[in-house]
Formats: sequence, structure tokens, C-alpha cells
Amino acid sequence: MSAPRTASKVVVFDTTMRDGEQSPGAAMTLENKVELGRALDQMGVDVIEAGFPNASNGDFEAVRAVGAVLENAVLCGLSRAQPKDIERCAEAIKAAKRGRIHTFISTSPIHMKHKLNMESHQVLDAVTASVTLARKFTADVEWSAEDATRTERDFLRRCVEAAIRAGATTINIPDTVGYSYPDEYRAIFEDLIGNVPGADGVTFSSHCHNDLGLAVANSLAAVQGGARQIECALNGLGERAGNAALEEIVMALKVRGESLPYQTDIDPSHLMRVSQIVARITGFPVQYNKAIVGKNAFSHESGIHQDGMLKHAQTYEIMRPEDVGQGATSLVMGKLSGRHAFKNKLEELGYALSDNALADAFHRFKDLCDRKRNVFDEDIIALVDDQIAHADQAIQVIRLRVVAGTEGPQSAEIDLTVDGEPVWRTARGNGPVDAIFNAIKAAAPHEAQLELYQVQAVTEGTDAQANVSVRLSANGRSVSGRAADADTLVASARAYVAALNRLKAVQARGRGADAAA
Ligand code: KIV
Ligand code: ZN
Repeated sequence: MSAPRTASKVVVFDTTMRDGEQSPGAAMTLENKVELGRALDQMGVDVIEAGFPNASNGDFEAVRAVGAVLENAVLCGLSRAQPKDIERCAEAIKAAKRGRIHTFISTSPIHMKHKLNMESHQVLDAVTASVTLARKFTADVEWSAEDATRTERDFLRRCVEAAIRAGATTINIPDTVGYSYPDEYRAIFEDLIGNVPGADGVTFSSHCHNDLGLAVANSLAAVQGGARQIECALNGLGERAGNAALEEIVMALKVRGESLPYQTDIDPSHLMRVSQIVARITGFPVQYNKAIVGKNAFSHESGIHQDGMLKHAQTYEIMRPEDVGQGATSLVMGKLSGRHAFKNKLEELGYALSDNALADAFHRFKDLCDRKRNVFDEDIIALVDDQIAHADQAIQVIRLRVVAGTEGPQSAEIDLTVDGEPVWRTARGNGPVDAIFNAIKAAAPHEAQLELYQVQAVTEGTDAQANVSVRLSANGRSVSGRAADADTLVASARAYVAALNRLKAVQARGRGADAAA
């Protein structure tokens, strides 16, 4: 993957499934990762970091499974500078068409002293040993200096030189704690590329965290400084405040090509769809005003703006919604629409469902038409995403009845199936949602704590479907679940159950995301 720095192509390295998954509550199942891997590959991502294979058997299997579906993208796995990690990573990427080992070690004084308990000469030796070992398995080796932006410059140069000598083909300079300013970050790249022997034969890479809201600005500054790979994540997912948002980088380069003449191979018309897949499988809704993929990113509210838009779209729009896959909202169908028209609509929205799944979706669509006057594309997307997320789950909501209102106590009565067995329970609570969650806990006992409960309307109007997100945590792991329904309380029950199912799946996977950086 090494490219001369004068070239104008910027390699897009997606870490949604690795750094993104380290966001509390964003754990993904193997099936989720395979679905996302396919979508990223089709969108034109160059390198997909699918996980940290030595964290657990589940992580290992997930990385391997993603590799099996990639047509073009390079499959990448993360490993610490330890032989066991590197060997396990090599095994996980072995069957992929193209595989990369990404190995890292901390280089800043604070990390070396307090995290690694190592002297700088030991770190330097570990750089050489880890890259040398990784090169035995693949010619595509990336080396990262964790906390590079707080590393003494002379030591960083020596580490980079050691990694290049040992055979690294990509050198990543992470702003691990999101501390840098753009001009400082750019200067680090200019310095390393200008002064480290062998730098002209490798690709330099940025990896920016968003603690000060500068991750995208820093990534673009790195490109100005000579980086030709950007590490990023959809919807800006990642540790703490997240990573640089892939969609923002791609569009910043596209829209402002006259200032930054670099290109990616991403097809931006996929951005909205892939962003929604990430939101669905992580349970992290996209904020309304999120750049590029937010629901309001192309809405114009003020009269002056609307007037300008009607006269000429470019008065207030620097890109068109359709460029990024945000179709104009269309009123689709209603009660009288047939199965064939519904199937066509699904295909247009990018879904290919099996006959059984299509029959279920059509049934739910008809149900929705009975409850909601206008059915929009967003409603169909929420309905089908919800169906995909809830299919074949261990716990399923069959029926719910709630007593709510000013005369308490509120109560809920729920029928579930748990591993195929019917279970019925009632419970009271402080409000209807609390009562529902108590009833579910009585039917499917668990130790998880509720961390977040959030409701968003899918479209406008009082008959809009509610998109409910629930985050649960147990034993240091958090997971999210999401569900959509025209009835907010039904959506709440289903979202809670979705989170419980995910918790079970993640516990079964025995993952250890926290063991990563
Ligand atoms: O932020 C970071 O430093 C990382 C490395 C493991 C690349 O995620
Ligand atoms: Zn990171």
C-alpha cells in the first residue's frame, strides 16, 4: 500500500470496527461486522481494520469472517508489540485476499513510564522486534506510535526510523488523546518525512481523536504535511469523543479540491446508507445536525434560506444531498400499495431481502399504513432495519399492555419468548417505561444496568414512528439496542430486549475491546 507522497490519492483506512467499537456501548456481533465490512468494501474503503484478533476468540473469528467477504479492501487486524498478538493477528488475516498487520506501542514519556513501565531503549527494541516478526507473515505492515503527538520529537524520529528499517510499509502517527492543533500536527509529518531515512519509501498515516473537536481538521492538516493515509470511522465513532469522521474527510476533500488537491476512492453516494448501518448495529443514533449524514444536514428552516434555495440551490448548499446518498424525502406508498411496488422500493433503498423476510416486512409495512397517515422512505428504512436487527434473537417481544396516566402506579404486562419458551410477567414502575423494563427483567432476569434511554422521531407529525435507543451495561461492558415502532412504548420494550440480546451475544463472544489501545 505504500505510495509516494507526491501522489494525490489518499488511502482511506476505516477503523469503525476496531477503534469505533471501543466506544462504550458500541460492541458489534460477528454478523454485524460482516455486514458492515461488505458495505465499506462496496463504498470504496481501501483498508478495513476489523478488530483486535488476540482480544478474544470472538474477535479473532470476527476479523476472519470480515476478511472472507472483502473483494477489494485490505483486511487489517490490530496487535500490540507482543509476539502472541502478532501471530494471532497473522492467523486471522491469512485467508483474506489482502491482509495487513497493524502493530503499535506507546512512545510518549507518560505512556512509557506509567502504562508500559519501559525505558525508551526497550521500546525501541520492541519496535524493531514487532515489525520484524510481523513482516514474516505479510509484506503489508503498519506500525503506530501510540500517543505520538506527546512524544519527544527526537525519540519519535528514532522509533519511526527503526520501524522503517524493520520493514514497516505504513507509519501511523496517532493523536491518541486528541491534543494536537492542526499546524502542530502538520509540522510533525513534515519533520518526519523530511528527516527520517527511508521515509520516502513508506506511506505516512494520520489517526486523530476528537477530544478537542479537531480530529477532521488535524487529519486534513496531516495530508498537507505529507500523510497519504487517513484513519477514520463512520459517524466519528471511537474511543471517548471518537475518531475523525470518515464522511466529513471524504466530503471535505471532494468539495474543496481546489484547496486540497487530493482524492479518495470512496463513492460518496454510499455514505448515508453506511452511516445508517453503523447507527443501527451500534445503537448509536446519528445526531440531527451531524455534518454530511445528519437528518438536518440539508434542511433549511429560516425563510431567508428557503427563499435563497428556491432561487438557486447553491445559495446555501455547498454539496447536494444526493451526492452523499441523502435522497429527497419522498412520500412513498400507502394502504393500497402492492407487494411488488414494496419490493421495488426496498431495492431502491438498497435492501435485498429473502422471500420470508420480504413477506414479514410487507406485513409490518401494511400494519404501519394502518397506523400512520403518510409513510416515507425513512419509515421504511426504520421498519426494515428494525426487522433485521430483531430477527432470530433469543428474546422476542410478543405482546405488551401498559397502564399509564395520571393515576399511578403505572404497570406493564409483557409476553416474551426466551429461547423459544413463552414467558409472561407483570410489573409496576415509576412511569410506563420503568414498568416495562421491570416486567422484562422479571421475565428474563439479568444483572445489567440501564445507562441510557433515548427517543427520536423518525419523521415529523404526532403519528411518526419512534426510534428508541437503550444502552445497558454489565461487568464493564456496555451494549446498545434500538427499535422503531409507531407506539413509543412498544419501541421501548423492543429496544430494551434488543440490548439484552446484544449483551448475551457480546458476552458469548467473550470480547475484550478494552484490552486494545
Ligand atoms: O489512538 C490510538 O493511538 C490508536 C492506536 C492503536 C492506533 O488507536
Ligand atoms: Zn485510536
